[in-house]
Amino acid sequence: MSSKPIGIFDSGVGGTSIFKEIHSLLPKESTIYLADSNNAPYGQKPKQTIIDLCVKNTELLLEKDCKLIVVACNTATTNAISFLRSQYDIPFIGIEPAIKPAALKSKTKSIGILATKGTLSSELFSNTSELYAKGISVIEQDGEGIVPLVESGKIDSPEMRQLLASYLKPMLDANIDYLVLGCTHYPYLIPVLKNMLPEHITIIDSGEAVARQTKAILMANTLENNSTNTTKHTFYTNSNKTVLESLISNQFEVQELKF
Ligand code: DGL
Repeated sequence: MSSKPIGIFDSGVGGTSIFKEIHSLLPKESTIYLADSNNAPYGQKPKQTIIDLCVKNTELLLEKDCKLIVVACNTATTNAISFLRSQYDIPFIGIEPAIKPAALKSKTKSIGILATKGTLSSELFSNTSELYAKGISVIEQDGEGIVPLVESGKIDSPEMRQLLASYLKPMLDANIDYLVLGCTHYPYLIPVLKNMLPEHITIIDSGEAVARQTKAILMANTLENNSTNTTKHTFYTNSNKTVLESLISNQFEVQELKF
């Protein structure tokens, strides 16, 4: 048993979509969230830069005595999690696009994946894709520009709708019936996407699966917290805190910090 916090990091505010899933499944766990918004987006950066940024975030969460780290970013997971696991002696939970369930359930045998360039070009992503999407047409779309708009709070904006329309067009032309959201910033777009997509297209992301995996790993390592007396949630951002605050409930404290 451990009352130490779970560390969560993302290139910015998107990983709060994962924080919410974890908090809802594991309400007794304390968390520390790092939004590396000053360095967002990670998705267009070279692999080594992404690894260096993940090391920086990990070191800070370890300084703050975290017992487990959730890499709440598909780009960071697909490019850096194996390095992190090889360097540090605590459990890391990552997030990857949910290709497997989409490929298994698709009736049209055509699915769309919206993710960053960094995720789509990673070895981990191509291995998963090859393994689970045999015989399925996978329409990959680099969502360049979406993360900066979410980071600046322009979630439901004309710029966002215009960008999404251009990214969805090839998927609609290919008759997809599943749209996989492969970036933790994108669940915030679900209401906008639902307005733009025909009803028969199902949107899926991996947030719930990450929370379930976090629970399983805590239990396997006897790291769960059994008392609510010490539960605390702290959010740090190295940029302006307004957008981060707008995405989480105001019961949580957000601090601006240089890191
Ligand atoms: N939330 C990150 C992800 O899941 C965004 C990546 C970026 O910063 O480009 O991929």
